[in-house]
Amino acid sequence: MAGPSEEMLALARQAMARAHAPYSRFAVGAVLRGANGKLYAGCNVENAAYPEGWCAEASAIAAMVVDGERRIVEAVVMGRGEALVTPCGGCRQRLREFADDALPIHVCGPAGLRRTVTLGELLPLSFGPANLPAQT
Ligand code: THU
Repeated sequence: MAGPSEEMLALARQAMARAHAPYSRFAVGAVLRGANGKLYAGCNVENAAYPEGWCAEASAIAAMVVDGERRIVEAVVMGRGEALVTPCGGCRQRLREFADDALPIHVCGPAGLRRTVTLGELLPLSFGPANLPAQT
């Protein structure tokens, strides 16, 4: 599986640098490639009322949806530290809304790619839009 482009990595670094994370001090950047080829970046945005903060992936999804795109074909998540910065459980489900099991997620540090996984590996037997009965 090919790694992320330099453009995706640069956008993720920039998004991470703009994170609003004064409470955890853990900045995360996410970049999504839509089926239209465009890239959408997001960062985590924390809040003094702690549970009201949200993840970098959620910001990037919002940027994509407001641009009119509904399909994610590739993702980068970037954060610092020893441990891999994989999407949290909630964000795995958020990504699932707009992607299938084959979605490559490039787990990165500031220096670049650490590991590529698929959404299906992170969220097996997932519940997605097709699990709902067709709307009439
Ligand atoms: N965070 C993300 O933005 N994405 C992830 O995939 C993991 C966690 C954020 C949420 C919170 O602002 C900080 O990282 C610490 O959990």
